[in-house]
Formats: sequence, structure tokens, C-alpha cells
Amino acid sequence: MEKGLALREPKKPFGANVLDRLDMLLPVADEAEYRSHATSAREALVTWNSGGPIAEEVSPLATAADRGIADADQFFSSRHSVRDYSDREVGDDILVRAVRLAINAPSVCNRQSWFVRFYRDPEDVRHALSFQNGNAGIAHVPALALVTVDARLFTGSSERNQGFIEGGLFAMTLSWALHALGLDSLMLNLSISSQRMKRLRSGLGVADHEIVIMMMAIGYGREGHRIARSPRRPVSEVVLDGIQSEGSGVGS
Ligand SMILES: Cc1cc2nc3c(=O)[nH]c(=O)nc-3n(C[C@H](O)[C@H](O)[C@H](O)COP(=O)(O)O)c2cc1C
Repeated sequence: MEKGLALREPKKPFGANVLDRLDMLLPVADEAEYRSHATSAREALVTWNSGGPIAEEVSPLATAADRGIADADQFFSSRHSVRDYSDREVGDDILVRAVRLAINAPSVCNRQSWFVRFYRDPEDVRHALSFQNGNAGIAHVPALALVTVDARLFTGSSERNQGFIEGGLFAMTLSWALHALGLDSLMLNLSISSQRMKRLRSGLGVADHEIVIMMMAIGYGREGHRIARSPRRPVSEVVLDGIQSEGSGVGS
């Protein structure tokens, strides 16, 4: 409903099917905040369909907000995967802040299927990393994240890949959030056998309804640490059609 009302020229009337479903679901919704969002969206639709204005609360006018990035090239080209961390601890506050930023990621129908677990106790980090293949030689991981998504929010075979998309988007946004807050990170693949995934699930208490996306090492790069040279393919190779693109990649 909110999406329909955010179009340039919303249809009138629209949303009959959604309204039916909402009327079926609202009486059984038990979470007050979700119920109140659903109720205001319902009211907005009914108001619009009966000739009223678009409800400001539900589909507000966008404001021309300052995007807060002084130098986009600098911001994007200064993120690097870091494999050598200092002993500096990663506090609760900064991780909470990073997650608060990361949940601005888009998600299909705003379902926000993401979960993240953090491990900081060295023994817990070591245990979690034992299920992962790409961390050999990393001397110290101050904090480790495990990103999963809730498979129950996706329905039918046509959404079979959606969890991986959403989880990847969330993980990337978390990585940018950490970068914005002065932290470094390293995505760690979980391309592991199903046997190993089973062991990971039971070892880390991951529920059956969670799709496991990836791990992420988090910390502050040790002073004097090195980064891997990671040359980028030229934009002209990435863009297949539609614009004239110059040859160089970002950061090259
Ligand atoms: C999903 C994913 C999984 C990754 N897994 C690992 C890994 O297991 N070990 C590792 O050292 N790097 C891993 N990386 C980091 C990539 O090697 C790195 O992003 C790439 O080489 C580009 O370098 P940059 O991140 O410094 O720009 C992973 C990256 C992604 C996106």
C-alpha cells in the first residue's frame, strides 16, 4: 500500500486484494507496532480510494536530505578487506550503531529478513571460525559476525534465491556501515559442504529456518597492516550496454 501511494500517479482505486488479506491478518496480529503500521496503511488506502489525500504518515513527501558524503570516491575506494587486526576491542556500542545503519538496506517488500550474531570471546571466535575455510593465517579476529536470514519470510519456488540476495545486501551494507564508523572488516565465505553446514548449524545454534549467508571478521586494522592489491575490472568491461563508459575502474 505504501509503495502504491509513492508512485507519481497512484491508481484509484487499487489494493483490493491486499486489503482483503490485511483484513484477514489484522485480527490475528499480536505485535502492537506491526498492527499499528498495518492499521495506518489500511486507513491510508481506504482514504485514497474514497477520494481523500495521500496520508503523509504512510507515504511522506521525500525531503532533499544532505547525503553526508563529502567525497564519494574517497569513501568507496578506501574500503579494503583487512586480514591483520590490532588488539583494540570492538565495543557493543559501535556494533549496535553499525547494525542500526545496516538495517537501512533495501529488502524485498521491506521484509527485513536479516539476523546477525556477534562473537567476541576469543574461544567463541575460534570455534565459529573452525567452520570456515578462508581464515587461515589471520592472527587475531577481534569480532566475528555471522549473517543469516529468515527463510520463513520467503514463499514459493520463485523466491528461492531471495534469501541469498537479501542476506548479501545486508552483509554489504553492514560492511559499508563499519567502514563509515572507522572499523575494518573481511567477508568470509561459507561455501562449505552440507555436512559441514550441519555441524556449523548445531555448533552455533543456527535454527533450521535460517539461511546461512556468510561470516565477517571485524576490527581495527593493525598499524602498518597491509592490504591485498585488488585491481578492478574497467567500467567498460562491466557495463554491457546503455551508456558510454570510460576505461578505468574505481580506485584504479
Ligand atoms: C562473499 C565473500 C566471501 C569472501 N570470503 C573470503 C574468505 O573466506 N577469505 C578471505 O580472505 N577473503 C574473503 N573475501 C574477500 C575477497 O577476497 C575480497 O573482497 C576481494 O578480493 C576484493 O578485495 P577488497 O575487499 O579488499 O576490495 C570474501 C568476499 C566476499 C564478497
